[in-house]
Amino acid sequence: MRLTVTFAKIVEVGPRDGLQNERVTIPTEVKIAYITALADAGLQVIEAGAFVSPRWVPQMADTAAVYSEIPKDPGVEYPVLVPNMKGLERAIEAGVKSIAIFTAASDTFNKRNINMTIDESFENYAPVAARARAEGLRIRGYVSTSFGCPYEGEVPPEKVLEVSARLLDIGCYEVSVGDTIGVGTPMQVQGVIGMLLQVIPASRLAMHFHDTRGTALANTLAALEMGIATFDASSGGLGGCPYAPGASGNLATEDLVYMLDSMGIETGIDLKRLVKASSIVAPYLDHPLPGRYLQACTRSALPVATRTGAVQ
Ligand code: HMG
Ligand code: MG
Repeated sequence: MRLTVTFAKIVEVGPRDGLQNERVTIPTEVKIAYITALADAGLQVIEAGAFVSPRWVPQMADTAAVYSEIPKDPGVEYPVLVPNMKGLERAIEAGVKSIAIFTAASDTFNKRNINMTIDESFENYAPVAARARAEGLRIRGYVSTSFGCPYEGEVPPEKVLEVSARLLDIGCYEVSVGDTIGVGTPMQVQGVIGMLLQVIPASRLAMHFHDTRGTALANTLAALEMGIATFDASSGGLGGCPYAPGASGNLATEDLVYMLDSMGIETGIDLKRLVKASSIVAPYLDHPLPGRYLQACTRSALPVATRTGAVQ
C-alpha cells in the first residue's frame, strides 16, 4: 500500500459523541478528569461537550461547567457542538474558542436530530457562523448520514458534496463527513471521498466513522489511501447518536492510534496514556467499553484505573 499521509490529526470526540449516548449520568468532575487525561495523552483536538438543548440531550447539560473547569492546555483545541444561536450565545458566554455546527445529508435524520430540514439548518447556521466568525471563533462542520440514513436508506454522494460545500461556504475550516450509523464500507468510502475531492481539498476533510458493523478501521485505511489525514475517534469506542436508532460507538481512538503507529504515521498520541484516560470514565458506565485495543489491555496486565481513581 502506498500512502502519502505521514501525520494524522485525530479529533477526540469521546467526551461529546461518546458520553451523549450513555444511559447513566457521568459526574461533571469525571468528565473533567477524562478530558484532562485525554490532553495529557497528546490529543490536540478534544470535543469537550455540546451546547444543545438539555431536554434533547440531558447528558450534555453540564457542558458550561465542564468547559470552565478543564485546565486549558495551550496546545489543545476544545471545540463544542452548537445547534443554533442560543447554543452559540452559551458557548461565547463560557469563553469557548472553537465550535462545531452539525447538519446532515438526509432531511429525515436532520429533522429527528435538530428539528430542521437541511435547508432550514443552513438558514439557521448562516447567522450563527457569521456571528461566530465575528467573535473570532473557529468553526468546524459535520455532515451526518453521509454513508446511509437510518430513515431514508441510501444517501447520494452528490448530496454529501452539496452539504459539505455549503458548510465550507459559510465559514467552516473543515468538514467532518459522518457515517452516523456505521453502515459505510471501504469501496463506498472511496466513492464518496472521490466525489468530494473533485471540489474540496483533502486538507479540509475529516472522516467520522462509527464502528457499528466493524468497518471503521477498514474505512479509515480506504480514506488514508485517498489522502485524508484527519479522523474523528472516541477513546475506548464510546459513543453513538441518540437520534440515530442502533448507532453505536465511534471508531476507538486506541484502535486507530495502534494501527497508525504500526504504519509509521505520526499522531503525537501516547497509547498508554490514552488507555489511562479511557479507564477514568469506564467504571462509571453500565457496560464495558467496546474498543478492541482497550479490551486487550484490560485482559492483560496493563494499568486500569478503578472507580475510586486508584490505578491497579
Ligand atoms: P427545538 O425543540 O426545535 O428548539 O429543538 P426550540 O428553538 O423550539 O427550543 C425548544 C426549547 O429548547 C426552548 O426552551 C429553548 O429555549 C431551548 P423552552 O422555552 O421550551 O424552555 N433551547 C436550548 N436550550 C439550550 N441550548 C440550546 C437551545 N436551543 C433551544 N442551544 C434544537 C432544536 C436544535 C435545540 C434541538 O433539536 C437540539 O438541541 N438538538 C441536538 C441534538 C443532538 O445534540 N444530537 C447529537 C449530536 S449530533 C451527532 O451526534 C452526529 C455527529 O456525531 C456526526 C455523526 O456521527 O454523523 C456530530
Ligand atoms: Mg457521531
